[in-house]
Amino acid sequence: MQIYDTGSSGQREPEPDENEDRHAALVRAHIAAEIERADGWISFDRYMDLALYAPGLGYYSAGAHKLGAGGDFATAPEISALFGACVARQCAEILAALDEGSILEIGAGSGCLAGDVLLGLERAGRLPRRYAILEVSADLRARQQAHLGRCVPHLASRIEWIDSPPARRFDGVILANEVLDALPVTRFLRSGGTWMELGVGTGSGGFFPVPRPASPAMAAQCELLRAGAGWPDGYESEYCPRLAPWTLAVTGALGAGAVLWFDYGLPRAQYYLPERNRGTLLCHYRQRVVEDPFLRPGLQDITAWVDFTALAEAGAGAGFEVSGYTTQAYFLAGTGVDEAMRSLAGADLNRGARLANEARRLMMPGEMGERFKAMAWTRSLDPPLGGFALRDLRHTL
Ligand SMILES: C[S@@+](CC[C@H](N)C(=O)[O-])C[C@H]1O[C@@H](n2cnc3c(N)ncnc32)[C@H](O)[C@@H]1O
Repeated sequence: MQIYDTGSSGQREPEPDENEDRHAALVRAHIAAEIERADGWISFDRYMDLALYAPGLGYYSAGAHKLGAGGDFATAPEISALFGACVARQCAEILAALDEGSILEIGAGSGCLAGDVLLGLERAGRLPRRYAILEVSADLRARQQAHLGRCVPHLASRIEWIDSPPARRFDGVILANEVLDALPVTRFLRSGGTWMELGVGTGSGGFFPVPRPASPAMAAQCELLRAGAGWPDGYESEYCPRLAPWTLAVTGALGAGAVLWFDYGLPRAQYYLPERNRGTLLCHYRQRVVEDPFLRPGLQDITAWVDFTALAEAGAGAGFEVSGYTTQAYFLAGTGVDEAMRSLAGADLNRGARLANEARRLMMPGEMGERFKAMAWTRSLDPPLGGFALRDLRHTL
């Protein structure tokens, strides 16, 4: 996601209105009641789960505007149709190699990526048999339906929404842009030579972090992440215990084809550098970065960067080949962003100038070009993937 203003401009901080305040109070009460039932402590991943996904209350389950203009953050497909056009070019290559197939998109946000991918595949004469969307948010599902109804009404019969990962085998492509960063993470602390789990307690001042001795399994995981890095006492960070089981569950039905993951993150050795001693957890509220995950439960997004080494391990564990890992900039260049730009702009010079500007935001190192990565998992698919051909960063994992 991209944030335009981090609060340093001297503008007033955005404040919730009365309705939002009321909603945050309900979310707080719901989480506090669970903490009290659990004798005063819940894990951070449970807190994140409730703040983001509690039915009817969590950030993704209730009606917060979330993405795009007037929302909390902007993602690559929200910023430019070029992103979806390039993803479509990569999908076309895969569908051509398979002869035909379907697409499953996980966590489709406002539906922008789905619309742009379908339009791109239509231009390429490579429409998928089905385009399925697995979405946990009822509110976003309604936005996707409205957007796709306007953008690709003639393709409606190919699009379907599903509530759980497909049970029946299919060949094709699975896409997920900025979904992994929304999976709940567990927080830990190195203290006095031992491992502590940083959970959540509650009191009159709201929620606060509460350490307690880590379980043997968590201590073993922390040792693995530290792997020789000299973490100082007081080092705090997080990891995502659901990454492997969740990715296995959502990709399990893919027979032949590829899974394309896009997100912000790093290989493990860079993620857990000693100097990154507060982890990568961040929240987004109305285009601002907020560091405190307890500030507005239910109103702000809570995210953590993706450990791409862990994602590669999850892929290998699920029986996929990790066929590519590169930056978003190189993925877009490798899929022919310049040609996509010409095709989208046509003879419209103003549109061409706008697209060039958007391409800079997607590709410049100081914007989204390097922080965001693309990873491909493949199964029974031979040809190399264009999006990963220009720069292979797998040796950094
Ligand atoms: C940050 S948004 C990204 C949306 C979109 N992919 C984009 O790039 O604009 C995260 C999306 O993932 C969805 N999501 C979060 N957790 C999910 C899960 N466990 N299964 C399916 N979708 C999920 C959210 O509802 C939302 O649509």
